[in-house]
Amino acid sequence: MRLDKFLSESTGFSRKEIKGMIKTGEVKVNGAAALRPELKVGESDAVELRGREVRYKKYVYLVLNKPAGYVSAAEDKRYPCVTELIGEEYAHYGAFPAGRLDIDTEGLLILTNDGAFAHAVTSPKKQVFKRYFARLDKPAEEEDKAAFSSGMEFKDFTAMPAKLEICADPHEVFIEIAEGKYHQVKRMAERVGKRVTYLKRVAVGSLTLPEGSVPGDIFEFEKERICEKIGIARDI
Ligand code: URA
Repeated sequence: MRLDKFLSESTGFSRKEIKGMIKTGEVKVNGAAALRPELKVGESDAVELRGREVRYKKYVYLVLNKPAGYVSAAEDKRYPCVTELIGEEYAHYGAFPAGRLDIDTEGLLILTNDGAFAHAVTSPKKQVFKRYFARLDKPAEEEDKAAFSSGMEFKDFTAMPAKLEICADPHEVFIEIAEGKYHQVKRMAERVGKRVTYLKRVAVGSLTLPEGSVPGDIFEFEKERICEKIGIARDI
């Protein structure tokens, strides 16, 4: 790949800005100043911009601990968007949420600019389980478990068998679902006569938020690692 393209895609500087930096000797390849934007570079070359190593990255895989109050979208007229929480370092990738959490839901939300990956995460066919912690207005009952595990018929979709775990305080539950339909957890809880008063997504497959993370935190993952955690093929 051309040096200017490599640096522009990896850093967010425009091709014009990169060309300027190449001209002024701010770019090095394998330790020597590189003065031609068309120089071809590959994975084995060490590229430096202003003294910092740059590794090529077309796609980015971010895991956000979503705070309540943000919509899972890249643009909204009324509410702040989760994409506003992406730091400057990643801003130029144009990452968007892979799936949705309601405005009042907290927790694990993946943001990426890799469309095929986003599709695999959200496709019900891939059976990627999403695990939620919920607080209910009434205590969950043992018989609710069967209602969840036998699947539920809604007018717009049929929820696949889901799992309900009741905590020591039965107002608190963990719910695992295979899809991610609109208000799915809230609607499933409603079906057994309970209202969700707090909802947090705690896992997608075996991907969890790092211990101690707080709403607003964002973490970058390598594709291989995130695919492995979620249980999807890395060559999608
Ligand atoms: N189910 C819901 O009801 N809301 C969410 O945000 C996610 C799953």
